[in-house]
Amino acid sequence: MHRAGDCIPEGEEGNVNSEVGESVQRLPQKDLVLSGFHVPAGTYLDLNPYLWLLNDMYFNDPLVLHPERWLRDTAGTLAVDPYILNPFSIGTRMCAGRRFAEQDLYVGLCRLLLKYRLEATDNSPPRQEWSVLLKPKTPLPIRFIARE
Ligand code: HEM
Repeated sequence: MHRAGDCIPEGEEGNVNSEVGESVQRLPQKDLVLSGFHVPAGTYLDLNPYLWLLNDMYFNDPLVLHPERWLRDTAGTLAVDPYILNPFSIGTRMCAGRRFAEQDLYVGLCRLLLKYRLEATDNSPPRQEWSVLLKPKTPLPIRFIARE
């Protein structure tokens, strides 16, 4: 069984399905040069993680569920760029509740899996819709089977 710590990033911001839509917005107060592009002050910037999370320049098989991609090797190095997963953003204005949110996700997932076995009822990718965050458009195709 994969650790919750590998499965959560796989669903959290990437690959296959994500709950994070446009995660970080900025309104620069000064002119900027970003990757060689001149960005005038006052230009609304909206980072869309789908552009890199579903990009095979950064991930092998980005559309395939593959939680092992988040494992570290023996030298502690991730197979993917550690800065590529930033659903909570990075830097001084990053999410103040990150550790609370992660703790809830890990504990919630572990408690759920202790009580239920999950079974896919349909293997096609669920569709999503945007509503501040991304949410499932149709009921999730998962059957919960109570453990004895
Ligand atoms: C999965 C759950 C969550 C996600 C994905 C998330 C993500 C984010 C993101 C992307 C930002 C903007 C960071 C930026 O602009 O650089 C943010 C800000 C913030 N979040 Fe969260 N968040 C989550 C849960 C929470 C929880 C549970 C709390 C409180 C307990 C919280 C408190 C905050 C606060 C206070 C800020 C503003 C930080 C600042 O502007 O300095 N978040 N969050």
